[in-house]
Amino acid sequence: MKHLLKLFDLTEKEINDILNLADQLKYERKHGLSHRLLEGKMLGMIFRKSSTRTRVSFEAGMYQLGGGSLFLSASDLQIGRGEPVQDTARVLSRYLDGIMIRTFAQEEVEALAEYGSIPVINGLTDYAHPCQVLADLMTIREYKGTTKGKKLCYIGDGNNMANSLIVGGIKTGMSVAVGCPNGYEPDAIVTDWAKSKGDFLCTQDIFEAAKDADAVYTDVWASMGMEEEIIRRKNDFSEYKVTSKLMSVAKNDAVVLHCLPAHREEEITTEIFEQHADEIFEEAENRLHAQKAVLVKLLGGR
Ligand code: CP
Ligand code: NVA
Repeated sequence: MKHLLKLFDLTEKEINDILNLADQLKYERKHGLSHRLLEGKMLGMIFRKSSTRTRVSFEAGMYQLGGGSLFLSASDLQIGRGEPVQDTARVLSRYLDGIMIRTFAQEEVEALAEYGSIPVINGLTDYAHPCQVLADLMTIREYKGTTKGKKLCYIGDGNNMANSLIVGGIKTGMSVAVGCPNGYEPDAIVTDWAKSKGDFLCTQDIFEAAKDADAVYTDVWASMGMEEEIIRRKNDFSEYKVTSKLMSVAKNDAVVLHCLPAHREEEITTEIFEQHADEIFEEAENRLHAQKAVLVKLLGGR
């Protein structure tokens, strides 16, 4: 594993190795054990979109591992004035030990990896959010003991979260069901792959999707960059929300997950959000541990 560009590129073993290391790093941090595995290493973090969790967890994670990080807003870099990503990649590779990038096009992340000579981590594109899904799988393992044989249900837009959850879920032995409106399905390559690989359903019936689910997941109706579509999307997604009625068809002990930020009373009711806040914020915490494991795997160390 040289980069983390999308979960498609990882084997089941690579995913499980990251999750096992993440569990260990979480244990060590909880018990005050130091793990300065990336002493002297520097991570550059390019952002073309806003972030709370990704930025802060990567910065804190690099610090805890003994390294450092640089927040690089694309609007302050020459890349924001049109310097090609191919040149940015070759320059940054000479200063840094790794790059995390949050941007729009998956192709930009892939180009950074192709032209640079250091590990590249996808911190969210319109297509994928692998770091989030590693934290999600870690959380499911914590609450359910395993991912194998568990049912993951995703309700909402067939966006970056849906694409990565399908791939991560199927690769780790889950059955995955997506409930989304007509015209908002996840990427066709992802759904075709999922159908050929495992137990996968994409339906407009959210109750069918959530039936007997062990984990129910949702995300915003309009992702970053889709702000001008909000009015149309609020109309198209009005029935695609996680409510107590929906949860009544899931397993009694089902967890509810959300990548955050959440829009209460849109994709999830306040009632369900607060009932499952422990899980949702554990999931947010797990971004830190899962990303530290990715950093250790890619930048050296254990
Ligand atoms: N879930 C997530 O990636 O959060 P941020 O947008 O705050 O980084
Ligand atoms: N789908 C959301 C996820 C945010 C973490 C977005 O892209 O805005």
